[in-house]
Amino acid sequence: MVSAPSPVPLHALPPRTPRFVQLHHEDQAAVRDELLRGLRAPAAFTAPKYLYDALGSRLFDAITELPEYYPTRTEAGIFAAHAAEMAVRVPAGATLVDLGAGNCQKAARLFEVFKPKRYVAVDISVDYLRDALAALQRQHPALDMVGVGMDFSLSLALPAEALSAGDGGDPAPLVLFYPGSSIGNFTPDEALRLLRDVQGACARGGAGGGLLIGVDRVKTASVLEPAYDDALGVTAAFNRNLLPRINRLAGADFALADWRHVALYNAAESRIEMHLEALRSVTVRWPGGERRFARGERIHTENSYKWQVPDFEALLRAAGFQGTQVWTDAKDWFSVFWAQA
Ligand code: AVJ
Repeated sequence: MVSAPSPVPLHALPPRTPRFVQLHHEDQAAVRDELLRGLRAPAAFTAPKYLYDALGSRLFDAITELPEYYPTRTEAGIFAAHAAEMAVRVPAGATLVDLGAGNCQKAARLFEVFKPKRYVAVDISVDYLRDALAALQRQHPALDMVGVGMDFSLSLALPAEALSAGDGGDPAPLVLFYPGSSIGNFTPDEALRLLRDVQGACARGGAGGGLLIGVDRVKTASVLEPAYDDALGVTAAFNRNLLPRINRLAGADFALADWRHVALYNAAESRIEMHLEALRSVTVRWPGGERRFARGERIHTENSYKWQVPDFEALLRAAGFQGTQVWTDAKDWFSVFWAQA
């Protein structure tokens, strides 16, 4: 007697695996030229992206646990308290695009309420995403996952693999997720340009898409400055870690002992500035050049802009978004905005 073929039990199906696309490759010469251009400028500076090598990324994770660094836990509190209200705006079945995904944990906590169909984790390097996304896929076997390595501050051209419906149906609504006040690294002009790109991407997806973004608020320097100059010295280590990185990338000879961390609130520009300040007169050398820094001279390493709610709403409207909704903590320290594409 021949038994009827039994359907393949679900647990026997091959597990779904995330797909990965690396779009952007920085060549070493371009990196060295960019760094040295900043170091030779009359007011020396470096781009904040150089803070995030493997050690820098771990130091940043440590910063988020410091008592003085309120943004991460304040934002998490806003999501915990208001996720259900946010889900009224965020359409179910969307493609959720996580800008600067890192360990993917912030987005993962929202899968349950937002019910996306696909999760696209974007970071500068797919290598940072591989382990996190593979682990997440095991916890959420039904969710389609894509890791994209790209520098979205240059251009937000998401790859077709990340956007296509796949089943030939209507395109899913696109929901961009940009938490952590990472937008604060951009000047208002740069932020407007990036948000216009984001609005354009959302508008090309299915109806109902938009942007969910976390933004740090203007507040007293007595709260802001300790958040960027903590008593334990973790932020100082995060900033000073740039120097050995520059030595590796540009062949320079910075000595850590010559430099101290400085963080100050520039109220006129509504931004925290991080600098490295020379403790004594030093000459830094690299292949083909050198620069003398006087005692007290600084290298500007990061801006972290703070926003008032009406100004950020105006920025979202100027970028082309239709309507906004904002959620805030009890102290008015941090806000999460929904912007309808
Ligand atoms: C990752 C850009 C949001 O500006 O608060 C934290 C980076 N620098 N402490 C911020 C940072 C120093 C952080 N962002």
